[in-house]
Amino acid sequence: MKFFIDTADLDEIREANDLGVLDGVTTNPSLMKKAGGADFHEHIFRICEIVDGDVSAEVTATDFDGIMSEGRTLAGIHKNVVVKVPLIEEGIKALKAFRSEGIKTNCTLCFSAPQALIAAKAGANYISPFIGRLDDISNDGLQLISQIVTIYQNYNFDTEVLAASIRHPMHVVACAELGADVATVPLSVIKKILKHPLTDVGLEKFLADWDQYKESVSA
Ligand code: E4P
Repeated sequence: MKFFIDTADLDEIREANDLGVLDGVTTNPSLMKKAGGADFHEHIFRICEIVDGDVSAEVTATDFDGIMSEGRTLAGIHKNVVVKVPLIEEGIKALKAFRSEGIKTNCTLCFSAPQALIAAKAGANYISPFIGRLDDISNDGLQLISQIVTIYQNYNFDTEVLAASIRHPMHVVACAELGADVATVPLSVIKKILKHPLTDVGLEKFLADWDQYKESVSA
């Protein structure tokens, strides 16, 4: 399973990348607003310089020509840029056109299995189902992951399932069990994954015993 970090914050990206297990980055306009980089294109380039993996940068146009124009520019920033395209009619047309131009895409704002099926048929490289936002409205985000994984396997689509809008470590575990290809997670969730009280207590005891052992052999 690939791990992407879901942020545009350069310090967070550096911190996650230093762990050595980061495979990519996802950004969106809201995350850019939070991170506050003055120049969007320059900011995406800086992310690509930190992480050696796919970096999703989202278009904001909603018409075909606008999406294509923005997407081509974004793809020209760095070889690792993946153009993030909203799952709307014009976006579906653009996915197919980007595919024919050799530009990688991440189809975003997916909330249903038939949406994911269409995106795969259009040639998206990644589909991003937003599981947390579905859970937020009393739907089942994980069921959607399960449906998409099954459908893609049934027809050998090469579109990768990128579980997005992840809220906590158990979302990551469930997505891994269901066979999602990628989980994009905020830094806060990565930190929660690393934390276990028994690890902390166990380490404290090992270090205390080590100190006592050293004292005993040096006496
Ligand atoms: C990532 O590609 C998505 O934009 C992101 O995971 C959405 O997360 P949110 O629902 O926490 O905003």
